[in-house]
Amino acid sequence: MKDILQQLEDRRAEARLGGGQKRIDAQHSKGKLTARERIELLLDEGSFEEYDMFITHRCTDFGMAESKPRGDGVITGWGTINGRLVYVFSQDFTVLGGSVSETHAQKICKIMDMAMQNGAPVIGMNDSGGARIQEGVASLAAYGEIFQRNIEASGVVPQISLIMGPCAGGAVYSPAMTDFIFMVKDSSYMFVTGPDVVKTVTNEVVTAEELGGASTHTKKSSVADAAFEDDVQAISEVRRLIDFLPLSNREKPPVRPFYDTPNRIEESLDTLVPDNPNTPYDMKELIEKVADEGDFYEIQENFAKNIITGFIRLEGQTVGVVANQPMVLAGVLDIDSSRKAARFVRFCDCFEIPILTFVDVPGFLPGTKQEYDGVIKHGAKLLFAYGEATVPKVTVITRKAYGGAYVVMASKHLRADVNYAWPTSEVAVMGAKGATEILYRSELGDAAKIAQRTKDYEDRFANPFVAAERGFIDEVIQPQSTRKRVCKAFAMLRSKKRSMPWKKHDNIPL
Ligand code: HXC
Repeated sequence: MKDILQQLEDRRAEARLGGGQKRIDAQHSKGKLTARERIELLLDEGSFEEYDMFITHRCTDFGMAESKPRGDGVITGWGTINGRLVYVFSQDFTVLGGSVSETHAQKICKIMDMAMQNGAPVIGMNDSGGARIQEGVASLAAYGEIFQRNIEASGVVPQISLIMGPCAGGAVYSPAMTDFIFMVKDSSYMFVTGPDVVKTVTNEVVTAEELGGASTHTKKSSVADAAFEDDVQAISEVRRLIDFLPLSNREKPPVRPFYDTPNRIEESLDTLVPDNPNTPYDMKELIEKVADEGDFYEIQENFAKNIITGFIRLEGQTVGVVANQPMVLAGVLDIDSSRKAARFVRFCDCFEIPILTFVDVPGFLPGTKQEYDGVIKHGAKLLFAYGEATVPKVTVITRKAYGGAYVVMASKHLRADVNYAWPTSEVAVMGAKGATEILYRSELGDAAKIAQRTKDYEDRFANPFVAAERGFIDEVIQPQSTRKRVCKAFAMLRSKKRSMPWKKHDNIPL
């Protein structure tokens, strides 16, 4: 009996060593943690329960029969993050470059199936050379099985991808279908075709980092949601994110103890909006002053900075925030900001996370670039996302809410539940200057007359009261009491139930 127990421990020790000490050292020398070290950091101490440690591949081609590493290049299982269940897979680059074989994929599929069945997030740590070349089409089929599960799990359980090494070719499409992608700076990259193929086909010379590194994907392509300095920081930020999210679409977002008073008054907000309507101010200050303990988890911080998206808590409950940022492009809506915010709004709606919207938007960005690139269709994404979201929606207009962008930004007309405006708000078809220039074109030569016309327009429309007279704004509130008012509004909406007409699914303009 003792021998058998020892044999078990020996087998476990062998599996735990992955591709061997030399390859582990090579992994460390690149500044990367091993697959097991990553899992240890991600999960609560001692909570990891492993699946399929002894699995081996079934390939016999290309000399593979002689090399059957236990676990087959991926570590899978479940554990907890701050006591809450998650499923996890972590690709082991020390074993055949973390490449995906049929059995490797089966392990991932097993935990994805368990996650969907039991209602808990899937966190994937990707570090892989892609399809196991020796297995050929079996490996492609295996990827297909993962992709199909990514699709089925979408909107059922949160799916989070960490890219911590190579992720290339068709392999990128599994993370691409998850809810959030986090990358590690300098050690991870994602691209459909690598620098060599790019050189051959388009004659462009580009490094892997330039083509698909963390900076590229968080600033240019928006494929990734955040970039972190190293594995440790990336993993600890995923732990922080998980704390904001429900485990599945079957439950409400977590409510955590909070140490902040819901009635907190922030007098400084009364002077946040400058007297000059063209002077910017930092919308993040408002978000942080409204949030419990000033804690804001920003998503896509470095992309389309003219809109801000992320999570806060109000009275301990997770709330998704979308806010125009007057500091960047005057907070205008354009293709990138519409896409960014639309995806965020849809994530919140999938997982019953209420949405708080702060509005200061002068309209949509004009120009041939925007029109040729389809701002009509992309802007419609945000409009559609807000209108189909049935979660509690509270909106606060701080300054400008002009034209179509006013309607898009969670207006009453898109079934927002509570619409507040600060006294500094201007809800209008457009700014006074633009309106005057159109209405009184024949008087444009007379500066004094135009100034008077502009003032008249401002007096009539550059305020929240015309909209309030019609009930489009429910209440004009003191900026200093914003936290108190939105906390009360969301508390009132906790039992909200609203559904859309039956349909197979909608046809959002993709
Ligand atoms: C089998 C692989 C492998 C793969 C790497 N290895 N990729 N084995 N299948 N796809 C093995 C290597 O042979 C090597 O084994 C070990 O992993 C480490 O690889 P190195 O090349 O030494 O590491 P490094 O220099 O860091 O380079 C990493 C790499 C490179 C850039 C990822 O290995 C590489 O280019 N691999 C091939 C990538 C690729 O073309 N994959 C297929 C993509 S197509 P030893 O024994 O020497 O340590 C694809 C389609 C998916 O993925 C489609 C889904 C629908």
